[in-house]
Amino acid sequence: MKHSFPVTLTTHPKQKPADENNLGFARFFTDHMFLMDYDEGQGWHDGRIVPYEPLSIDPGSSVLHYAQMMFEGMKAYRRPDGRLQIFRPDMNVKRMSRTAERMCIPDLPEGVLVDAIEALLRVDADWMPKTPGTSMYIRPFIFGDEISFSAVAVDHYRFVIIIAPTGAYYGSFTGKLSASRIYVQDKYIRAAKGGTGYAKVGGNYGGAMRAARDAKAANCKDVLWLDAAEHKYVEEIGTCNAFFRINNEVYTASLDSGTILPGITRDSVIQLLKSWNIPVHEGKLALADVLKASEDGSLQEIFASGTAAVISPIGSLTFEGKDYQVADGQCGELADRLYNTLYGIQTGRIEDTMGWTHQFDIVVE
Ligand code: COI
Repeated sequence: MKHSFPVTLTTHPKQKPADENNLGFARFFTDHMFLMDYDEGQGWHDGRIVPYEPLSIDPGSSVLHYAQMMFEGMKAYRRPDGRLQIFRPDMNVKRMSRTAERMCIPDLPEGVLVDAIEALLRVDADWMPKTPGTSMYIRPFIFGDEISFSAVAVDHYRFVIIIAPTGAYYGSFTGKLSASRIYVQDKYIRAAKGGTGYAKVGGNYGGAMRAARDAKAANCKDVLWLDAAEHKYVEEIGTCNAFFRINNEVYTASLDSGTILPGITRDSVIQLLKSWNIPVHEGKLALADVLKASEDGSLQEIFASGTAAVISPIGSLTFEGKDYQVADGQCGELADRLYNTLYGIQTGRIEDTMGWTHQFDIVVE
C-alpha cells in the first residue's frame, strides 16, 4: 500500500542558495519537512508535510536528557534525464528497524520511509541541485518526545524528515578526490561490544567529538578508531567505514562484533570489489600490520566510505607523533574507481546492473 500525506505549503518560501558550487554539507534546508507522531496504543499516525520551521519541544522531553533517538542518512540524485532517484533505500529501512529495536523506539510501518521521502522531494523538487558533485541529503530522524525524567523508553515519538541540497561532505568537490591525513586514536573509543556501535544513534556521534578534536589539534581531518577491548585492531574512520588495500587485497572490519555501523556504501563497496574479482576480507586487521605495510611499501590504499562522504581517500596516518604515508599519499586507483562507479550509479550515469537505485516519477528539468 502506498501512503499519501496531506501537504501544507509554506507561505514564505526561502531564498535558495545562489551558488551550487558552495553548498557545503547540509547547510541549507528546503521549504518543507515531513512529520509523523507515535502514541502508544495508536501507533504511528498523522504523517504530513508542513512548512520547515523550528520544532517546539518541551524542555522536560526525555530525548533532551537521555538521548532516546535515532537517525538515517540518505541522498537523492538527479539522473541525466532529470528523474530523481535514491540509493538502496531497502538497506536504510532494515538498518532503521535494527536501530529502533536497540533503542526501544517503535519501528515505522512498512513503506512509510520511502513514501514520505518521495512526497517531500515532490514538494521541494525545485530545490534539487544540478551541479556535478551535488545531491539532496535526506535526514530522517525519530526521537522520544514525552515529558519524562524516568530513564525508560517513552510512549510518544516524533518522526521527522528534513532535506538539504548538498555538496561534498569533506571540503569542496573539485572533480578529483583529495587525500586526508588521519589521526590514530588510541585513547578514546567509538563503540564497545554490546553497545550501540551498529545502530545509527546520535550518541555515537556526540561521544566521538572529543576524539575528533584531538585529530584537528594534530592537523588531521579525522580519527582512525581502534577496537575498544584491546586498542589493537582498526575499526572505522571518523563517521565512516574504513577499507585498507594491502598487496592487492582489501580489508575491512567485520560487522560481527556489533561495533561497526553497517554502512550502505560499505556493503556496496564490498559487492563492487567482489564483482571486480578483488579479494576482500571482512575481519580483524591489526593497526601494527597497517603501519608495517606503510613502512615496507605494501600498503597501497586506505579509504573511508559513507553516505555523506561516498569514498574518501586517506593519504597518511599519524600515530604517536609519527606520520605513516599511504603509498604516494594521493587518492589511490581503487578509491577513484569506486567513487566514480558508485556516484555514476547513484546519479544514473552508469547503468545500475545491481538493482540498487529506486527511481521516482519526479522530473527536475
Ligand atoms: C552519513 O554519512 O550520512 C552520516 O550519517 C554521517 C554523518 C556524520 C553525516
